[in-house]
Amino acid sequence: MDNTSELYRDLDRILITREEIAAKVRELGQTITADYRGKNPVMICILKGAAMFFTDLIREIDLPLTLDFMAISSYGSATKTSGVVRILKDLDKDIVDKDVIVVEDIVDTGITLSYLKKILEQRGAKSLKVATLLDKPARRKVKDLYVDYMCFNIPDAFVVGYGLDYDQVYRNLPDIGVLSPKIYES
Ligand code: IMP
Ligand code: MG
Repeated sequence: MDNTSELYRDLDRILITREEIAAKVRELGQTITADYRGKNPVMICILKGAAMFFTDLIREIDLPLTLDFMAISSYGSATKTSGVVRILKDLDKDIVDKDVIVVEDIVDTGITLSYLKKILEQRGAKSLKVATLLDKPARRKVKDLYVDYMCFNIPDAFVVGYGLDYDQVYRNLPDIGVLSPKIYES
């Protein structure tokens, strides 16, 4: 899909191109490879938003890793989190004594991730780190949330593409763009 396609007409602008994403994801894969040398980490994909980032990232990590998937939903409107998080699909295997890396699409208020970290910390992992594609620090509400790996710091705007949605749409855009406010204001 190129950026003259129909889905792109709903964007104000492209914020991060597919080439910029690929370069950063490759760099992060190399960093994780070095940091986890000699280990077999469990990579956890937080569905659905992190799906694209996850599948690209794991292919840049040169380690005997394993995968698991978790789906969570935070109640709220399409552009804001309510703070109440619910597990829709839990992990298939336990993570006792494992080196776990949670892969998220975006940290906004931080409420979703801090809740998720709390749940996973109670399950006896040997270590627990978080990798996020995007970080929107201007909107953070949870102040003590530590994010171990991050690809892009972005301004306070609602973005879609490369896994991120508005009302479940736009996840298949290859680039990340700022959604035109008229889409969610109308
Ligand atoms: P938080 O709990 O406020 O940190 O929100 C995290 C979740 O909100 C993410 O996993 C996304 O599903 C969603 N979210 C936050 N900001 C955006 C955005 O700009 N575009 C798309 N989804 C977003
Ligand atoms: Mg979402």
